[in-house]
Amino acid sequence: MPRLFFALWPDDRVRAALTAQRDVVAHDYRGRPMRPDTLHLTLVFVGQVPELKVPTLIACGDRVHVPSFRLDVDARSHFKPIKLAWLGCTEPPDALHILQSRLRAEIERAGFELDDVPFEPHITLARSCTLFPAPQAVPHVDWHVESFVLVDSHQTPAGPLYRVLKFWTLDP
Ligand code: 2AM
Repeated sequence: MPRLFFALWPDDRVRAALTAQRDVVAHDYRGRPMRPDTLHLTLVFVGQVPELKVPTLIACGDRVHVPSFRLDVDARSHFKPIKLAWLGCTEPPDALHILQSRLRAEIERAGFELDDVPFEPHITLARSCTLFPAPQAVPHVDWHVESFVLVDSHQTPAGPLYRVLKFWTLDP
C-alpha cells in the first residue's frame, strides 16, 4: 500500500543551498545526515492509502488553488523527542499556512483520517540526533515556492526512497 504525503519539493538551486548546511547541522547535532535527494518540507502526512483511493487523494490536490509565495529559510532547530534537526523559518508566511490548511481540509473532507499534530513547518536535515544545541540563525535560503507535490515514501534499509507522484503549480 502506498505511504503518501504532500510536500514542498525544492528545485535544484534550493536543494543545493539546503544541502550546503546539512553537514554542519548533522555534525552539531551528532545526527545522521539526510540524503540530498530526500530534502523537502512536509505539508500533510497522509500515511498508508489503499491504491484504489489514490485518485481521490489526487483530486484533493486538484482543488487547492493558492498563490505562489517566498519562504525565507533562516533558522535551525530540533525536535528532541524524535531526535530530528531541521531548518525552518523564524516567521513562516501566512501563505504557507493557507496552502497547508486548505490541503488538509480537502483531504479530511474526502474522508481520510489525519493526525492532530499541529503544523510546524520544517525541513529535516538530520535524524537520530544525540546533541541538541539551542536554535540559531543560519545563512538564509530564499525559496520561491511555485508548486507542491504528492510523494510516495518507500522504506528501504538504506533509508526512505521518495517518488513524486504528482506536481501542482501554484497560481502566479
Ligand atoms: P519528519 O521529517 O519530521 O520525520 C515522510 O515520512 C515525511 O512525512 C517526513 O517529512 C516526515 O516528517 C513526515 N511525517 C509527518 N508525520 C509523520 C508520521 N506520523 N509518520 C511518518 N512521517 C511523518
